Amino acid sequence: MNTEELKQTADALMAGDKGLLAMDESLNTCNKRFKEAGLPQTEEYRRKYRQLIVTTPGLAESISGAILFDETIYQSTDDGVLFIDVLKKAGIIPGIKVDEGTTAMPGSPDEKITNGLEGLDIRLNNYYGLGARFAKWRAVMTIGKNLPTEANIQANTEALAKYARLCQEDDIVPIVEPEVLMDGDHTIERCYEVTENAIKELFKQLEKQGVYLPGLILKPNMVIAGKDNHHKNSTDEVASATVKCLLANVPHEVAGVAFLSGGQTPQEATRHLHEMHVKFGKELPWPLTFSFARAIQQPALDIWKGKDKNVKAAQDMLAFRASMDSAARAGRYSVDLDRYPVL
Ligand code: G3H
Repeated sequence: MNTEELKQTADALMAGDKGLLAMDESLNTCNKRFKEAGLPQTEEYRRKYRQLIVTTPGLAESISGAILFDETIYQSTDDGVLFIDVLKKAGIIPGIKVDEGTTAMPGSPDEKITNGLEGLDIRLNNYYGLGARFAKWRAVMTIGKNLPTEANIQANTEALAKYARLCQEDDIVPIVEPEVLMDGDHTIERCYEVTENAIKELFKQLEKQGVYLPGLILKPNMVIAGKDNHHKNSTDEVASATVKCLLANVPHEVAGVAFLSGGQTPQEATRHLHEMHVKFGKELPWPLTFSFARAIQQPALDIWKGKDKNVKAAQDMLAFRASMDSAARAGRYSVDLDRYPVL
């Protein structure tokens, strides 16, 4: 474990007003998004779409690192340049999703556990050789009647910590993502409670595995009510609950915190991040930024429609959304700024 290299990579990922772009949808998730957008669910369309993303002009102004999926790390542009090389040339650090998705938890089938620890050391070694310098592992926790169970939180955080340790052995910065899902009608208070339990347990497990915190990034959900809860909390309530929960449970030593968007609209996720900086900027002991997938990509995907003639407009939208998130991280986002020129 080269702690100097780990810290250097993690600090570079968290530098400036930038954030991360999660473009690591698994085959199933990517195909699901394509289906919703009426696009063919083929390897070639996934390649074209990822090509659109990595060749977006100006992306590096707002994005420090991009998380790829296994299929994508081997793919190239029409001209035969590996996507990973396109990113590196643009000054974007390539990362890789290394979990192998979720399955129902034995004994509690309404909950999920994440797979992928078997053979992970070999895969990490290979990804480092290909140029990946950071990785991501996502665990999901479901809020419901008597859920999540303690056993689920325990199993998910234990796997996250083992993954993080293996990454660091290979000088790869681990992003640990304990996602409390927005599915359901739970309140913001309930989300707070579950997020707090999950993060607390995660840091216990990370300590047990001897994980080097300055070479680690936490990717949490924001503390927010479930999608089916009719009561909408204010921007201030979400920002305050989220920062309170993180300040109480995330050690100061971690390299940074980068949120997932979790099904919030792009504007909601951006507004919440902005508010956290405006209200608590000076109190934050770690860089606080974004690692969004849908909140950056969805509007661009909607514009693309699988057509070459729409690539430029889709790229403009992608760069625009990333720039809004970067503005939010700097605490200089506003509704007025977020007016995309009508197409
Ligand atoms: O694992 C989930 C992604 O990295 C973040 O996705 O921003 O659409 O929630 P999201």
